[in-house]
Amino acid sequence: FNLLPSKRPPVWEGVPFIGGLLKFTGGPWKLLENGYAKFGECFTVPVAHRRVTFLIGPEVSPHFFKAGDDEMSQSEVYDFNIPTFGPGVVFDVEQKVRTEQFRMFTEALTKNRLKSYVPHFNKEAEEYFAKWGESGIIDFKDEFSKLITLTAARTLLGREVREQLFEQVADLLHGLDEGMVPLSVFFPYAPIPVHFKRDRCRKALAEIFAKVIRARRESGRREEDVLQQFIDARYQNVNGGRALTEEEITGLLIAVLFAGQHTSSITTSWTGIFMAANKKHYDKAAEEQKEIIKKFGNELSFETLSEMEVLHRNITEALRMHPPLLLVMRYAKKPFPVTTSTGKTYVIPKGDVVAASPNFSHMLPQCFKDPKAYDPDRFAPPREEQNKPYAFIGFGAGRHACIGQNFAYLQIKAIWSVLLRNFDFELLDPVPEADYESMVIGPKPCRVRYTRRKL
Ligand code: HEM
Repeated sequence: FNLLPSKRPPVWEGVPFIGGLLKFTGGPWKLLENGYAKFGECFTVPVAHRRVTFLIGPEVSPHFFKAGDDEMSQSEVYDFNIPTFGPGVVFDVEQKVRTEQFRMFTEALTKNRLKSYVPHFNKEAEEYFAKWGESGIIDFKDEFSKLITLTAARTLLGREVREQLFEQVADLLHGLDEGMVPLSVFFPYAPIPVHFKRDRCRKALAEIFAKVIRARRESGRREEDVLQQFIDARYQNVNGGRALTEEEITGLLIAVLFAGQHTSSITTSWTGIFMAANKKHYDKAAEEQKEIIKKFGNELSFETLSEMEVLHRNITEALRMHPPLLLVMRYAKKPFPVTTSTGKTYVIPKGDVVAASPNFSHMLPQCFKDPKAYDPDRFAPPREEQNKPYAFIGFGAGRHACIGQNFAYLQIKAIWSVLLRNFDFELLDPVPEADYESMVIGPKPCRVRYTRRKL
């Protein structure tokens, strides 16, 4: 006796995919908008040989985010990352090994560890902006991309890479990055020049990291960085409790760098763009800095950064307006029931790709009042719109929510604290649109004038 109707979600046949798959990865915003208007929270779109079922909004998202890995699996949809991350890690291993590898990373981001990274965030930001002149024209995205690479190099990859090997490693990482184009999502091994370069860069990185890891292990020298955590970590319930190999450490470092690099630098950029475009919010955040300095002195620490609620809300609002990950995806390993807000129950068939969209969900008026308006105060009491379950999903949610969230906030706050204390900004172009052509979605170019000042 089966209570579940076996009705699959409505299928939207004949969607005009101009340019086929590439167009799909490049810009499905319109598709979501039209599909949601036509079918509501749950609908399926055939994309080439696959069917993609979208779950949109806070009523159906929990199905997606809470599902077990045996129901909604990541590796089938994210395995295009394998040639970039390398063998033996993340999507190249079974779920139980991946869970342990992410556990090792989580242990590298405990409160005490995060505290030890803050001075590095601060130092990198101070040094970087000290090189700016009295006034100049910049693009936030270019600047923050460079700065975040420096801070990530120091705190994730370690002292040796930051101090002695930075240029070389940054070049190789850039080669890896360039090897991730929309085509790679469907054909990660396609014989194209950027993939060949990616493979050469990955190999060279493995050689560099193997040397660094060996030198640390042999000298017994220890550092406060994620690399050290990976060197010390051991599997618990798999792989006979052994330590990570050099190849696995390299792969995990690349994976966390990829997860955190563009996402953080893009969010740092949007935060700046929106604060510069909304002087009231810039001034309020600058005022908060003055108060923090009065209370705690000039030094930035984990504690002082944690006090910056106004800045925190600006970052969260920038992330709500423009989450860098357009779609998060899973693969249905078994038929999967979903109940919509109107009480309809569908069963997503085994084999469907299932997708949730932070961008689209954040623009639903039932989640956020006047969603197109930049309004960081929506997160302040008494409104606290972020508390509606599964409304804000910029860091994902549930079982696979972002592990680097606190790291990201601290890093972005350290950067903006230094800037708010020392500079004013003026947008020379209108607030840019999001560039849906890139893999991680950031702002299109936008010129900004900075002017140095003293508080
Ligand atoms: C997962 C967003 C920064 C590491 C995720 C997910 C999202 C996300 C949406 C969920 C993906 C899914 O459900 O498929 C962001 C944003 C960031 C950010 C917007 C910055 C503003 C970082 C940083 C790191 C990091 C700095 C590491 C240093 C990870 C990892 C996962 C993850 C390891 C996988 C968790 C899992 O699958 O269990 N992130 N992230 N992220 N993020 Fe972040």
